Order: sequence, then structure tokens, then C-alpha cells
Amino acid sequence: MAAQMQTNLAAQRSLLRVLTCGSVDDGKSTLIGRLLYDTQSVPDDQIVSLANDSKKFGTTGADMDFALLVDGLQAEREQGITIDVAYRFMGTASRKFIIADTPGHEQYTRNMVTGASGAELAILLVDARKGIQVQTRRHAFICALLGIKHIVLAVNKIDLMGYSQSVFETIKSEFAAFSGKFGFKDIVAIPLSARFGDNVAGKSAAMPWYHGPTLLAHLEQVDTAEDLVAMPFRMAVQWVNRPNLDFRGFSGTVGSGFVRPGDKVTVAGSGAAAQVARIVSYDGDQPEAIAGDAITLVLDTEIDASRGDVFAAPTDLPEVSEQFAADIVWMSDVPMLPGRSYLFRVGTRSVAGTITKLKYKTDVNSFEHIASNDLALNEIATVNVSLSAPVAFDAYDVNRRTGAFIIIDRVSNATLAAGMIRFGLRRSTNVHRQVLTVDKAARTALNGHRPAILWFTGLSGSGKSTIANTVEAKLHALGAHTYMLDGDNVRHGLNRDLGFTDTDRVENIRRVAEVAKLFADAGLIVLVSFISPFRAERQMARELAGPGQFFEVFVDTPIEVCRQRDPKGLYKKADAGQIANFTGISSPYEPPQAPEFHLLTAQASPEQTAQMIIDGLSGLFAGPDALD
Ligand code: ADX
Repeated sequence: MAAQMQTNLAAQRSLLRVLTCGSVDDGKSTLIGRLLYDTQSVPDDQIVSLANDSKKFGTTGADMDFALLVDGLQAEREQGITIDVAYRFMGTASRKFIIADTPGHEQYTRNMVTGASGAELAILLVDARKGIQVQTRRHAFICALLGIKHIVLAVNKIDLMGYSQSVFETIKSEFAAFSGKFGFKDIVAIPLSARFGDNVAGKSAAMPWYHGPTLLAHLEQVDTAEDLVAMPFRMAVQWVNRPNLDFRGFSGTVGSGFVRPGDKVTVAGSGAAAQVARIVSYDGDQPEAIAGDAITLVLDTEIDASRGDVFAAPTDLPEVSEQFAADIVWMSDVPMLPGRSYLFRVGTRSVAGTITKLKYKTDVNSFEHIASNDLALNEIATVNVSLSAPVAFDAYDVNRRTGAFIIIDRVSNATLAAGMIRFGLRRSTNVHRQVLTVDKAARTALNGHRPAILWFTGLSGSGKSTIANTVEAKLHALGAHTYMLDGDNVRHGLNRDLGFTDTDRVENIRRVAEVAKLFADAGLIVLVSFISPFRAERQMARELAGPGQFFEVFVDTPIEVCRQRDPKGLYKKADAGQIANFTGISSPYEPPQAPEFHLLTAQASPEQTAQMIIDGLSGLFAGPDALD
């Protein structure tokens, strides 16, 4: 049993994931090409064509141009623009390597984040002629952010500086001076020439003053054993495997630690516990499984666990919280807005949530903290996150597997950001929800109708308020208990601190959605009349309201008509450039895709459209279950 684990462990340890940072100008392609060549990781036919291509296209005279080895592959890669990171594989007798090569241009941060995932070591390339550059600082900062603890400072093109020791030492100490606070475990500076191979695989005769290892020797020896296997056991359940009535197992990949039959495991959060009866993999039953293994756990008793739950060592449980502080790297062209509802994927669990607070952005070049209301592509920020349900995690500094998360767009499903959890926030942990005696059913019975939220959305001047007012009067006449929340009015009170930037509009709608929910809980039919231009926030309001209770009313009036009506004279001002961020002119409006009511106001009077809504709501008065 132990022997088997040793082998698995050895296999894990013998694999090193390396991130390379630097630009082609620094000699990055040449260095990677040289490593592949010197480790005989390139097929023979490619070597022959490399020799030919070097003569034809190379920049190195009669010598082999190793950059062509990598750039040749790069050309293929550029055809498929979706691939941001190229992975190259090489091996020596003692270790296997996966080298992530990230293109250095504009999207560098996003690419680095993708390439760094799982990387234990980063090679930061510096051109000996130029020394430490802004990009070197940036690369070091991002490596630190992503938890890479082992750094190689590869001082390349040292041949062009006469193999000078003092040039090397200056660069080395300059790097040490600013990277001290980054918490790297080791920084190994190596003077080298990728072009001529000095100190890459073989020791350089030209630098007798250098007594350290060659790059390859260091990569082979470096101990990155902050080993996931040594950490407490974690496994996020991917799915419950139940092929027949006799078998029930929990499938997933071991995130950290190891597990054996007989071990006790606990479901983080619920505390449900059981003993491991069997560990099943594709190759049958296993005596143990370690970090990285895909397995199915069979337990000795039936316990309640499903996709998203985390099995953990009972003696060392992860944190469980619905709020945490984190650093995020924004990877989308669509900006991040605090208060907007996103999906957060932590392990195998996806939970809706928001960024409640953007504490600051960090300038990747100067490391300065900058106040901001939103985040753009490639920006990095320290934030607070609030989720709609608790999740299990460890701090990223402790465990890079269970402390990482991604943010997903709820509509497009695109990945928007990568995040690192710094610590849990305990704000509402000790605030328990009260069970109330008079509940919604009781209020519904007393009122004689069910509560609802009628959410009117449309451009300024589209007629939302007029129609909503008519609907309210009709409901009132029917004996319904109603309340109106109107944008113009609420902006004079509760939301008087908010303007019309995207960020403020998101917060405007978030607050109003919460208030509408409270009024609906109180048993009322709530009419909400706000432009509410963004789909994401209307969706959030809908989910908050709960099923059967939310009716989206799209007051669909073409902007030309609104402009002609211009009841408040605002279009005139906006067209004259006197009002910034005006909806439909300088700020977007995203029309509903499937509203419960779609009112084409050009074709019907407010009275007619209001009556349509009343007719459509008859179910509210038809007893408690009519709309379920
Ligand atoms: S929302 O976009 O955040 O939902 P809300 O409905 O609260 O907007 O407020 C819209 C009202 O504010 C408009 O009816 C109009 O009277 C006024 N207003 C002032 N400036 C703007 C602006 N830049 N864009 C839209 N409406 C504005």
C-alpha cells in the first residue's frame, strides 16, 4: 500500500509545470527552443527542417535559430486565435516538464493567469542589455498573486554583455530589492545565453565566476514539495455515481491530500460523516488515491451529499462561508460591476453572488492601489464577495486548488475572471434568520390575492409610469393591496446617492429589487417602474422574487417616439450633450428577451395596455395555487 503511494507520489513529484514570462525580444522563444533541443524533446525530422529553416529565415547566421522551433508552432497557433497559451512537453531522465508559453502582447495578464494555473515555477526572462524592466516587475507581481513560489530569474543574452559578472549581479540585486515582499520561496538567478546554450543545459566555460546550477539542472532538482499530497484531504463531488441500485459512489478528483479505505471523511458544511469503504477508479479498486487522481468514493453508510459538496478530512476541515475577501483578475471585455449578479464556481459548486465591494485595483506596473468603481479587461483587484449560499474553501495561500474560483457570466456562460480567496468573512454567520409566525400564506389568505412584482422596464419617456399608474388604479379598484416604486421618486430618497453610471444603475436596481421583495413578502402587489436597462439585474430581481411572483413588463416604445414626446425635456438635453450616460443615447438599453408582458405602446393606448395586464394577472386572485 505504502509502496504504491510512493510510486504515485514519485510520479507526481517528477512532473514540473513551468510558466515562462518574457517577450520574444528577451529571447523567450529561443530559450524554450533551446531547452527542447538540448533535452532531445524535438523529433528528428523537425531538427532537419530547423537546420534548413535557420539558413533560410534565421537571424543567427550559420547557427541554428532555436526561436524558429517555437515560433513555427506559434504560427499554427495564431490561426486558432482562441488558444492563448501553448504547452510544450520535454523530459530528462529524472523529470518531465510541461512548459506554458504565454504570448507577451496586450492580453498578457489573462494569458499569464491561464498559463500559470497549476504551475509551480516561473522563469522570468530578462535581457542582460536592458536589465529589470517594468514588465519584469509586472510578471513577478502576477506570479506572486497566483501563488507561484519558485522563481528563476533567467538573465539572458549575457554573451552580448561580455559575460559580465557585475551586469548579472546588478540585475540580481535589483530584482531582490523589489520582490522581497512577494513571498517567493526561492529565487534562483542564472546568467545564460539561450542562443549559444551557455548555462542552459551545459555549464558555460565563458562564466567561470558563476557557481550555481545550469537552468536545466535547477529545473530537475528544484523541490516544489509544498505538495498538494501533504495537505489535508479534499475532494469536491463532481457527480453522484449510481449506475444501479447496488452501487452508490461519489465521483470527483482528489484536490489535495490522500485517502484510503477505512478513512473517515466529512462533508464540509453539513458535517455528515462516513467511512470510506472502497476507492474505485478506471483500473478497478485502489488501495489509496492522492491529489490529482480521478476516483469514485464508496462509503460505508448512506449520507446526503451531491454535486458541489466537498469531502474533507474530519480533523482538518475547510472553511465554510458565503462571504470572503479575494483577489480577482478580470478577463473579459465586459467590465465588472459591483452588485451585479454573477455565477461563482468554487470547486465543483456554482453559486450566484456579487462583488459587494471593490476595495482597490492594483496597478501591475507600479503596484499602486487605485480606487475604482469598476474593473476592465486585465485589471486586478482586491474585493469582497457575497454568495447566495455558503461554499467550502481554504485560503489560496494554503491550498491553490481549493482556494481558487472563477466568475462566470450568467447569460453568456463566458468566464469573466479568475479569483484567489484570501480569507472568509464571518459577517452574517452569527446572524440567524428568524422564523416568523405570520407568513406569506397567512397574508395571502387575509388579502384575498397573492403578492406579485410587476417590473416595468423601458426607455425614459416610454410610458412606464403612466401605464403602471393605470394598472395600480385598476388593481386598487379590484380591492388589491398595491404599492408603487418609481425610479424618479426612489432616486429622491433611498437612492439619492446614486447617479447614472453603469455601476450606480446596478446598485439602484439591486436595492429596488430587495425593497420590492420585502413589499411582496408583506403581501402586496408591487409595481416597479425603473428603466432598469441591464438584463443581468432584471434577472437578479426575478430570482430574488422567486418563482411565479415576478412579471416583467416591457414597455416597448421606439426611441424616436420617446424623443418626440420628451415629457421632461431630457432627450433634448442629452442630444445636446448636456446629460452624460443617457439611456438609449450614451448608455445602453438591453431589451427583455422573454418578458411576461410585451407592450407595443405605439399600437395601443395606456388604458388598453393596462387592461391587458390586469387580464393577464387574474390568476393572482384565483386562490393560492393558481399560478404554481
Ligand atoms: S435606471 O437606469 O437606474 O433604472 P431610473 O429608472 O432609476 O434609471 O431613473 C431614470 C429616470 O431618471 C429617467 O426617467 C429620467 O427622468 C431621469 N434621468 C436623469 N438622467 C438620466 C440618464 N442619464 N439616463 C436615464 N435617465 C435619466
